[in-house]
Amino acid sequence: MKAIVTGSGGLIGSECSRLLCEQGWQVVGVDNDMRAIFFGSQGTTRPVVQELIDTRPGYRHQPLDIRNRQQIRDLFAVERPDFIIHTAAQPSHDKAASIPYDDFDVNAVATLNLLVAARDYCPESPFCFTSTNKVYGDRPNFLPLVELEKRYDYASGLDGIDESMSIDACLHSIFGASKAAADLLCQEFGRYFNMPVGIFRGGCLTGPMHAAVELHGYLAYIVHCAVTGKPYTIYGYKGKQVRDQIHARDVASLFLHFYRNPRRGEVYNLGGGRANSISLLETIDALAGLGFHLRYEYRDENRRGDHICYISDIRKLRGHFSEWSLAYDLPRILSEIIERNLQHAVVQA
Ligand SMILES: NC(=O)c1ccc[n+]([C@@H]2O[C@H](COP(=O)([O-])OP(=O)(O)OC[C@H]3O[C@@H](n4cnc5c(N)ncnc54)[C@H](O)[C@@H]3O)[C@@H](O)[C@H]2O)c1
Repeated sequence: MKAIVTGSGGLIGSECSRLLCEQGWQVVGVDNDMRAIFFGSQGTTRPVVQELIDTRPGYRHQPLDIRNRQQIRDLFAVERPDFIIHTAAQPSHDKAASIPYDDFDVNAVATLNLLVAARDYCPESPFCFTSTNKVYGDRPNFLPLVELEKRYDYASGLDGIDESMSIDACLHSIFGASKAAADLLCQEFGRYFNMPVGIFRGGCLTGPMHAAVELHGYLAYIVHCAVTGKPYTIYGYKGKQVRDQIHARDVASLFLHFYRNPRRGEVYNLGGGRANSISLLETIDALAGLGFHLRYEYRDENRRGDHICYISDIRKLRGHFSEWSLAYDLPRILSEIIERNLQHAVVQA
């Protein structure tokens, strides 16, 4: 069996590539290290790609730009994959405003390139798209909230946000708009062309392999700062903003479940759910409890359109993929990221 994984050097793409290779798949990884162009050398995913090439015999790398329509068509025509996992993206909400053309070309237009190539060369192959909860724009902030000592929470007792939330008529950011365009295109290829396309609206996807930078990869970045002593800046909401965290491995295993039981144009909210939710202040406390004291400053102004409290309701996921479960809770996620940072610090010393 053969899969094409776009963004194979990135957090999610690399974990999917590892898992598929472990299960005997051939993986054609597509990544041109554009993350280093978006975020500078600290954001490069080249070492991760090299590690895949060196350690996974089933992995082949194609350093293509997914914006290149003809090259993508040629790749699909030759490879005719059984499974497509599309994770390549400009992933930052904040970055998008300064590079709107690149953001839209990578997130929206290149997704169309992949969908059309899949329709023309392998229409029955399951296709997973990593969408984002930013398609809901700032609508989650309209929910009544209660302010607790260390976090915000939903005043109504809501467990989390499900897929029925409107994606319309709110502030999305340029990133939210480009991902919403891709999200709708994926739904349409599922519904209009009857293709097995799944749309997964991620909250905070995380793990030790994230090439985390200030503008993307919040948990990995804050841990990196706490371990290395680098100063961290909290933007607004008193540090009580909440996110649910899901480990990249749990995302990858979910996609394999989708491969086995695909649905056409189905949308899912994807996250660690309430049990894996944590605020910034709680993260700082948890890290301090483990001996890593974060140096940080607080700025009153929040990031534009940033969610105050976002917890994914993952009941639809659990219902459709009853054999899938989360293997990583918060302590395990944190300890893995800390471990990776400590190893890296030793290597650099
Ligand atoms: N990490 C999160 O918290 C999060 C949350 C919600 C949604 N998502 C979505 O999940 C997906 C994966 O996120 P991630 O954290 O793994 O991102 P990442 O930045 O770690 O990985 C993306 C990879 O895509 C590659 N890439 C970018 N543009 C490319 C292009 N034009 N051609 C080929 N390769 C290109 C980059 O070099 C990078 O290696 C993205 O679609 C992102 O929007 C991520």
